[in-house]
Amino acid sequence: MQLSSPTASLHFTSNMHRCAAMLLLLCSTMTFALCCDWLRHYAHLNNDTLSLLDHMGGPLTQQESPVNFPYRLYEEMKKAKEESQLLFIRNSIELISDLYHSGNQSSVTWNNETTHNFLITMDRQAEELSLCVSTNRKPNSKLRRYYRRLKNTVYHSGGSTVSWELIRKETQRHLELLQLLVASITASRGHNA
Ligand SMILES: *[C@@H]1O[C@H](CO)[C@@H](O)[C@H](O)[C@H]1NC(C)=O
Ligand SMILES: *[C@@H]1O[C@H](CO)[C@@H](O)[C@H](O)[C@H]1NC(C)=O
Ligand SMILES: *[C@@H]1O[C@H](CO)[C@@H](O)[C@H](O)[C@H]1NC(C)=O
Repeated sequence: MQLSSPTASLHFTSNMHRCAAMLLLLCSTMTFALCCDWLRHYAHLNNDTLSLLDHMGGPLTQQESPVNFPYRLYEEMKKAKEESQLLFIRNSIELISDLYHSGNQSSVTWNNETTHNFLITMDRQAEELSLCVSTNRKPNSKLRRYYRRLKNTVYHSGGSTVSWELIRKETQRHLELLQLLVASITASRGHNA
């Protein structure tokens, strides 16, 4: 019978509010936890990816890529907000993965299974990272242009072995720089915590 009194219903609504607030808090910490988790596992996952990349073929080519490496974008990312950094990493992984899904691969000499596993770990990284990137923004246009030009080197050579080996070499360089970027995010989170 107390339930119908004004104070009781006031209690009820404020409890509802508290409940909603707690749910919100829970959701945001869950997303954060997943993300932290991903970052914690990233170094390990990326090591696996680098190792698969290394083992899927012979020694990396010494040849230089005709497309200039986007060092400047990585420099800019060092100073960017965390959200942009995570987005950049996710988009880079997807763009790299995409390089291996197109073009004439008939002259590729890589081990099928290792290449397959390499691509699976790349996709897994992109998926896990997507859980903590809230926007679906498209990649930076400079980044997209760079990867398009890299992809074109394969098309222009008709899918030559050399052009695929250059893709593999550039991939290694990207994965190493992405790892450094993740390390800097983890370090700055440590400071802010
Ligand atoms: C990744 O590999 C590097 C060197 O290859 C090593 O120093 C580092 O400890 C490894 N990290 C993980 C998480 O396995
Ligand atoms: C792929 O390249 C090979 C030569 O490396 C060629 O024989 C074949 O026709 C090409 N395939 C396509 C679909 O262009
Ligand atoms: C590698 O994969 C291609 C296509 O996915 C297939 O045609 C080829 O037979 C495979 N080679 C080996 C050695 O498994």
